[in-house]
Amino acid sequence: MKVGVIGAGVMGRGIAQVSAMAGHKVVLFDINHEVLEAAKTAVTKNLNKAIELGKLSEEGKRSAEDNMQYTNSIADVRVELIIEAIVERLDVKTKVLADLAEINGESTIYASNTSSIPLTQIAANFVYPKQVVGIHYFNPAHIMKLVEVISAEQTSPEVVKVALEYVKSVNKTCVVAKDAPGFIVNRVARHFYVEGLKILEEDVASHDVIDDLVRASGFKMGPFQLMDLIGVETNLSVTESMYKLFNYDQKFRPNRIQQKKAQAGYYGRKSGKGFYTYE
Ligand SMILES: NC(=O)c1ccc[n+]([C@@H]2O[C@H](COP(=O)([O-])OP(=O)(O)OC[C@H]3O[C@@H](n4cnc5c(N)ncnc54)[C@H](O)[C@@H]3O)[C@@H](O)[C@H]2O)c1
Repeated sequence: MKVGVIGAGVMGRGIAQVSAMAGHKVVLFDINHEVLEAAKTAVTKNLNKAIELGKLSEEGKRSAEDNMQYTNSIADVRVELIIEAIVERLDVKTKVLADLAEINGESTIYASNTSSIPLTQIAANFVYPKQVVGIHYFNPAHIMKLVEVISAEQTSPEVVKVALEYVKSVNKTCVVAKDAPGFIVNRVARHFYVEGLKILEEDVASHDVIDDLVRASGFKMGPFQLMDLIGVETNLSVTESMYKLFNYDQKFRPNRIQQKKAQAGYYGRKSGKGFYTYE
């Protein structure tokens, strides 16, 4: 299958990598040239790591690299399946999908990797609503096994079927979720971040102590490490979106500590500073 991945940031590059490793021809598009360069470096690094771990052969690496095309021209995205992974904003996603529809037409499938924007709303804004579906990877996409497939109210069963086949082809475990705020994983996980921030806000403990304790209880990462990995501003957008979608239920209240970090550009790993500082 020919796959177009839109956005080469934290998620897009990993989605492109696993698709290329599964034998799909991939066009990875981003408007930012530097991000594309960084994505190429990251994919090479991940493939080398996979060889080191004995999970990939040199031949497998070459073939994955041959399957990848990096571009900052949207006109190059002529594909059968689009997976959009750009900023978590409905207006921006709507505009990009409209541009892609003009290039690709009605037979292409238009998937979004959104964490919290209703797929039904994305489909309602789109010229081919039956072709819209959610394919929601987790971070880091080249490692995490789970993918949620989300059917909008308008999605055709045939499109869901192709989305499931695609997820199977990239060797991920798939769950089908209905279109509800945060779907399944983000709805459960939201409290991990929101409660962590409340503990910090009340000055019960510092962010690193909270992370240490959570890790000691068996989690791979604490909430602040995870927000830095996800992108502090992306994680905040998801909380804000879910807060609104749950009718301002205080359980999902966005936290000023996180809002200030996002305003300052302290996005976490990708900007070199978030709750922690990175080299
Ligand atoms: N970060 C996570 O852990 C995570 C996990 C699951 C899902 N998501 C979702 O995936 C999506 C992407 O998140 P991310 O963390 O990869 O974001 P990111 O900020 O790391 O990357 C987004 C990329 O999109 C590019 N972009 C912005 N506008 C564009 C446009 N009009 N055309 C083409 N490229 C454009 C930006 O240059 C940037 O490189 C969001 O919807 C987010 O909610 C994120």
